[in-house]
Amino acid sequence: MAKKVLVSGGAGYIGSHVTVELISAGYDVVVADNMSNCDMTCFEGVKKITGKDDIPFYQIDCCDFASVNRLFTEHEIDAVIHFAAFKAVGESVAEPIKYYRNNLVSFLNILEVAKSHGGCNVLFSSSATVYGEADILPVTEQTPRLPATSPYGNTKQMCEDILRDVVKATTGSENVINGIALRYFNPIGAHPSALIGELPRGVPNNLVPFITQTAIGKRECLSIFGNDYPTEDGTCLRDYIDVVDLAKAHVAAVSRMIDGKMKNGYEVFNVGTGRPVSVYELVRAFERVNGIELNYKFVDRRPGDVVAIWAETTLANNELGWKAERTVEETLASAWAWERNLSLLQK
Ligand code: UD1
Repeated sequence: MAKKVLVSGGAGYIGSHVTVELISAGYDVVVADNMSNCDMTCFEGVKKITGKDDIPFYQIDCCDFASVNRLFTEHEIDAVIHFAAFKAVGESVAEPIKYYRNNLVSFLNILEVAKSHGGCNVLFSSSATVYGEADILPVTEQTPRLPATSPYGNTKQMCEDILRDVVKATTGSENVINGIALRYFNPIGAHPSALIGELPRGVPNNLVPFITQTAIGKRECLSIFGNDYPTEDGTCLRDYIDVVDLAKAHVAAVSRMIDGKMKNGYEVFNVGTGRPVSVYELVRAFERVNGIELNYKFVDRRPGDVVAIWAETTLANNELGWKAERTVEETLASAWAWERNLSLLQK
């Protein structure tokens, strides 16, 4: 019988791509989402791409213990991928209580329920933000985490630690929780079908949605935050990981847990390409690939940005048997195709 994976936050940007890849790898998927930061566009897209009309969908909030408990009562869950969380850095600084309550309580509920139902494999969606401004680049999984600079970043660190502690406490018991934290670098792009992609509400905080919205005329001009950084062209360096590649890393990690291939009950992997790309390079590549002249200007640095971060990916390559494959050009073409399709879908 197919193994079953619960994807919390499965109607969102990364969650919808992961749902597609899980289904095409032969898993049954249950999606839970409170729809606080998305609409049904991506979930409908998932159904079209996979040709599956009957994916179980629960509009629930994981902060509600009884709702999470119902999921585990109604389904025999082999693994959980937990995406359901708030993710806007600036908003987390302004509204820390909202971030701590949502991001911590939902994860604690998942863990407590999973444990009470006999244990489970749990994949936590973490972030490269846990490394902060690292001294030595690229960062490995052993690079020390620095104190978080935002409540959002702090929730990622705290949830990693919670998972580690729960794994430790349940090892050898009848309710074993195995855990993997995937530390994403900068996820960008969309599915090649252009049926699912990033759907930011309001003004995008992240670079690529801002670029595509500027290209389509929703925004007047892209502001490039800082061109006086100590890098070759003066703009920040990031490791932009294609969202489909990122989704495949989740399938690899879930299989590793379900197939009993883990070397430790709790493991951490960087998920990136291992290649630094500057903001300016990314903008130029977008223009080149899509034949678009983008309206942009250089402005002051954005407070809180790190100069440079990119991943050492050897551990994920070797242990997960996974490697980023799509080129940044393909990814930027997919982001643009999605933005254009979205303007049709939203008409
Ligand atoms: C941020 C968060 C990270 C979070 C991720 C996804 C920080 C330090 N990091 O990553 O924790 O997981 O978002 O939500 O807050 N840029 C522009 N113009 C724009 C937007 C961005 O020049 O309009 C630049 C930024 O200065 C940065 C790069 O593009 O150098 C990438 O920015 P962004 O997409 O926001 O991601 P991060 O800040 O790297």
